[in-house]
Amino acid sequence: MKKLAAGNWKMNGTAAALEEARALTAAHPAPACEMLLCPPATLIARMAEAARGTALMVGGQDCHAKPSGAHTGDLSAAMLRDAGASHVILGHSERRTDHAETDAQVRAKAEAAVAEGLVAIVCIGETEAERDAGQTLAVIGRQLDGSIPAGATAANLVIAYEPVWAIGTGRTPTLAEIGEVHSFLRDRLRGLIGDAADGVRLLYGGSVKPSNAAEIFAIPHVDGALVGGASLKAADFGGIVAALSAA
Ligand code: 13P
Repeated sequence: MKKLAAGNWKMNGTAAALEEARALTAAHPAPACEMLLCPPATLIARMAEAARGTALMVGGQDCHAKPSGAHTGDLSAAMLRDAGASHVILGHSERRTDHAETDAQVRAKAEAAVAEGLVAIVCIGETEAERDAGQTLAVIGRQLDGSIPAGATAANLVIAYEPVWAIGTGRTPTLAEIGEVHSFLRDRLRGLIGDAADGVRLLYGGSVKPSNAAEIFAIPHVDGALVGGASLKAADFGGIVAALSAA
């Protein structure tokens, strides 16, 4: 399985930031892993244009479950694909919090994305209170069961495990804690989709940086990363791409 270094720019970046994507592709013309950036929707088409003929793929950060209609401010999966996206992040904890997205809504969005030929990157993760209460595996198991699309395969689904308390905080779980969750996810996914589960990329996300990437990528069942802050600068994200390529 080819590993995946995915960057989530969140609500950051205007046209000037496209220089970072250009610097990234110049520094990493042929990485051994897949390389994806998910900029704000306003930059998808321009980044896709800049990435043409390079190893960089471009994704969205959300899509609507419906193909079209009266949904002011929303974007359909077909619109993302039309703009040049190949992937879409769905159910990020910030969307689950800011927009009260439920597992059922995330699943509906993922099904819409997959129907349009996009790879759905479904995010799950426990809060700090849930971890402290010993509920981590119960929470992420429930999120996984409820959020993955019908017809999921290794080609159309990526799972990102992002503990909410590790996002943007500089804190990460221990390597053993990440390993425990990722092997749990692999087993649970086998129960849901059978042998195809072995090919689904399981990303870790939450305060991944060049300095901790190699040790995280050495954990069994960690098949890449979903990176926030450190994906905004080509040098930092490039360091993570290099670590994953070497893993
Ligand atoms: P940080 O890498 O900034 O912690 O963000 C992780 C994340 O939320 C990626 O989706």
